[in-house]
Amino acid sequence: DGEDVDPFAVARIAAEQLAEATGVEKHDIALTLGSGWAKAADLLGETVATVPATEIYGFSAPALTGHVGTLRSILLPNGKRALVIGARTHFYEGHGVRRVVHSVRTAAAAGATTMILTNGAGGIKEHWTPGTPVLISDHINLTAASPLEGATFIDLTDLYSRRLREVARSIQPELDEGVYVQFRGPHYETPAEVQMAKTIGGHIVGMSTALEAIAARQAGMEILGFSLITNLAAGISPEPLSHTEVLQAGKDAEPVISELLARVVAAI
Ligand code: 6GU
Repeated sequence: DGEDVDPFAVARIAAEQLAEATGVEKHDIALTLGSGWAKAADLLGETVATVPATEIYGFSAPALTGHVGTLRSILLPNGKRALVIGARTHFYEGHGVRRVVHSVRTAAAAGATTMILTNGAGGIKEHWTPGTPVLISDHINLTAASPLEGATFIDLTDLYSRRLREVARSIQPELDEGVYVQFRGPHYETPAEVQMAKTIGGHIVGMSTALEAIAARQAGMEILGFSLITNLAAGISPEPLSHTEVLQAGKDAEPVISELLARVVAAI
């Protein structure tokens, strides 16, 4: 996209195409399902339509195995419409922040007022064994980027909705919370970088979500964030990290956390 292209106009075109492709004029709630969370889509309700993301303006093919490139429209038991985004563009892919937050802006243009962001991430707290779901209480953006352009001075207090976090805890009272630190990636952090993240107040390290949350706030959405701890971060874990193990931990935890997420969505 060129500098002269309005990213919100691009999102409106995508939302129109989505309405056409799904037959659903307006969605209420959007979910981005990261590593380990994809199965939640099957538990939410009745899938009305599944659209390959590449058919919608501004979306690209998934960069990774473990990331499904579809957009799904789901009718929830309470009559609300959920848009499940299984096609995330990561900042490390190098296509710029506009592409990273395009799905969030498309969801907003499609009517969604709630944005649920999920990811697989590394844990800094030693007692977080792989498979632990953690509510995101706040974030630290270490990408040196922002989806906002120009003089857009928006407030990010309570970015991750207190109300929605309480809903999640009403489903699972013992849910842990933590501050998510977004690094650019695609390499995992060094142990020294993980220590830095810990020192500045972080508990979870990952490569997504923060930029998307900022765009969702700009769009006026209420935001809920969940990390699945797939592994301990470098230096916290005694072993080196492996992407294969990260994917396997996600697969193993998927049934349990998907059930949790589906129950939370039903309670919103
Ligand atoms: Cl340790 N770091 C980052 N940045 N992303 C991850 C991760 C670690 N583990 C899973 N995803």
